[in-house]
Amino acid sequence: MVPGGAGNDLLDRYVALELVHATEAAAISAQRWIGGGDKNSADAAAVDAMREYLSTVDIAGRVVIGEGEKDAAPMLFNGELVGTGRGPALDIAVDPIDGTTLTAAGRPNALCVIAVSGRDTMLDASATFYMDKIVTDAAGRGVVHMDNTVAANVQALANAKGKPVNQIQVAVLDRPRHKALIDEIRSSGAITLLIPDGDVAAGINAAREGSAVDMALGVGGSPEGVLTACAVKALGGYMQVRLHRPDPLDGEAAGLSRIWEAEDLVQGPNALFIATGLTDGDLLRGVQRRGDRVRTESLILSSGTRTMRRVQSDHTTGRPST
Ligand code: FBP
Repeated sequence: MVPGGAGNDLLDRYVALELVHATEAAAISAQRWIGGGDKNSADAAAVDAMREYLSTVDIAGRVVIGEGEKDAAPMLFNGELVGTGRGPALDIAVDPIDGTTLTAAGRPNALCVIAVSGRDTMLDASATFYMDKIVTDAAGRGVVHMDNTVAANVQALANAKGKPVNQIQVAVLDRPRHKALIDEIRSSGAITLLIPDGDVAAGINAAREGSAVDMALGVGGSPEGVLTACAVKALGGYMQVRLHRPDPLDGEAAGLSRIWEAEDLVQGPNALFIATGLTDGDLLRGVQRRGDRVRTESLILSSGTRTMRRVQSDHTTGRPST
């Protein structure tokens, strides 16, 4: 049992299948905003649907990672109690949409995400908006390290995977802050995959054996980092992060030099990561609507049982698409 009394069985057999309804509800509600240029309305629709469904689930959930503070978007706020209060005591991280800008622009890889673990096992990273991250699959454990140069990490991972450096693909958010990093990846000989947004999907792809992405690198959101850690644990991948503030002067004082692994960000054996595709992506199909029928595709990753389930659901809304 994990703190709060949530064992593998309970999380896997009951909570996972309940929570997937919440991410599905978020995706279905936000779907009408895809490509509409209004990321806040998309986010609000997803938050409202997720919050409404969560209120019916038999868990005593406490939101440790809520989305929205960074840009004052609507949110399931940190510390909010969710669920009926009758079930297992859990920490919850929510990202009703990872990729609000992607959604508003009609671009791929937007996901609706929830992760849970036993109460008091998830890092509350709300004081720091960003984390510097490195994610690989299992081959990177004991092989890559944040303190090494990009070239050394790329070479070491290539050796561990038995493929040439020029076949190593590294995903990185396309941001001005990553200019030097992108230059380093390119001069290492690896392939750079610049993503406009959505480093949760990129992290999962890096941690998943057999995907085209070998490594995810760079500074992204802290909430997204904790969510990704839940998925990485379940996938048996490897992740290191450092809390990051744009102003390096207060770094030491704030304890920002510490390197955290996925297992430090989310402690204990039992964590669940659940995502439903909102727009089509490498990981999941987005919401597909035909008349009054809606199809969703979701992923349920369980670190307790080390299972990865794909759930395809056909919903009949009873109303034609708008
Ligand atoms: P949204 O706010 O549009 O959902 O963007 C999500 C995201 O791209 C995350 O995947 C990533 O961790 C973070 O934003 C990066 O933050 P910033 O856009 O400030 O670089």
